[in-house]
Amino acid sequence: MQTPKLNPAIMTLRSVIFSFALLLGGLARGQNDFQGSTHLMPFDEETINYNKAKPNDPVTQLQDAVEKGDRTLKFESEHGYLDSVLKELGIAKSSQVLVFSKTSFQRERISPHSPRALYFNDDVYVGFIPGAPLMEFSTAEPRLGGVFYTLEQTIESKPKFARTDQCLECHASAKSMGVPGHLLRSFKTDSTGVVELDSGISEVNHRTPIEERWGGWFVTGQHGSQVHRGNLFGKTAFAKQEKSPNYLGNLSDLSRFFDVKRYPENSSDIVALMVLEHQIHMHNFITRLNYESVVQLSRYGHINYVTNIANSFLKYLLFTEEAPIKSDITGGAFSKDFESRGPRDSKGRSLRDLDLQTRLFKYPCSYLIYSKSFEALPDKIQEHIYKRLWDILTGKDELPEFSRISAKSRRAILEILAETKQGLPAYWKR
Ligand code: HEC
Repeated sequence: MQTPKLNPAIMTLRSVIFSFALLLGGLARGQNDFQGSTHLMPFDEETINYNKAKPNDPVTQLQDAVEKGDRTLKFESEHGYLDSVLKELGIAKSSQVLVFSKTSFQRERISPHSPRALYFNDDVYVGFIPGAPLMEFSTAEPRLGGVFYTLEQTIESKPKFARTDQCLECHASAKSMGVPGHLLRSFKTDSTGVVELDSGISEVNHRTPIEERWGGWFVTGQHGSQVHRGNLFGKTAFAKQEKSPNYLGNLSDLSRFFDVKRYPENSSDIVALMVLEHQIHMHNFITRLNYESVVQLSRYGHINYVTNIANSFLKYLLFTEEAPIKSDITGGAFSKDFESRGPRDSKGRSLRDLDLQTRLFKYPCSYLIYSKSFEALPDKIQEHIYKRLWDILTGKDELPEFSRISAKSRRAILEILAETKQGLPAYWKR
């Protein structure tokens, strides 16, 4: 009689050990953020009210304008609404990146022969698969974080972006810092794009070493002798790469893999990928900091318990743990399009200026500091961040975790921000 009693106990024990292992795995990977950074936050309660609040983002604004007849979306036989929507939302086609792992919503349509294309600017992401019935959108809504929409690819006089929460199953989890947000991962896949689960890096951001990036993604551009996992699928390809490390690296053309004419661009720009990787985690972090601050303010009227998170936020904002670039990286048209958006200071410098020799940006402080999401952070936490940032950049704050930022970089960032950033406290302008 003992066995049937023991079995469930062992099963439970096993699942406990398994969950613990998963948790440890999660912690190990998430260790560079703060403790608890992957815990799901209660975002549907009154304070955040995620589902009921009306979003104020470029997609709802476009929707309202289409509704009123102020703007129209053009349907074209090749890409449906894609080209028109990108134009209306101010998203450059050169931001195109291509993912072939079956890791997302319309996964049955995604494969190395039919990759999913993503396009992005500072606050909107667009997903497009040639021939698919739906286009997918996510925005960085200033107060709510990631908000999700679909658009049917059928000819309508007034096409409709439909907000949906069925995306949250994946887009609000430990992988998006426990808030509704954005995702980027790296997996080995088989020849059809199916993920080999034991091979994954579950979250990619600017800290992830280049050699672990881009599993499941196409990559175009030059990266010298640096190895990565892009452009590889199926056992044979990975075996070949073991022997000759840059097999399928440094590519400028993807036509050997799929029909590139079905996409607006024939690239999956390496620089666009790197910027995207920084940006997605930065967006999730801004949302997390916002939610934490809003909740703490409503509960206690102060943000004293959020300062630890703010410290970790500053580390990410200032790229203190960025994975080094070991040989020069060159992409395509994206770099120029991205840099041209500024703002620039009187010496012509911008936080968007790319370095691409040893690191991603010349002046390592995220350009998302200009974003509506950053500006929507509660005043108290903004004041705290500005004060810490001032202390770090002026050298008053000597915490070892910021010591990697050179005196030259600190000075440049300080000068650029003082001239270009709205809403800084008065002591910045002295
Ligand atoms: C099965 C899990 C899953 C579901 C459900 C899902 N996604 Fe995603 N999504 C992903 C993953 C993983 C990525 C990262 C890129 C990739 O692997 O394709 C992603 C990336 C995206 C991106 C690029 C930027 C970002 O926000 O991460 C958009 C846009 C997007 N999804 C829209 C949607 C929309 C809209 C829905 C709901 C209609 C949805 N997704 C549902 C897994 C999912």
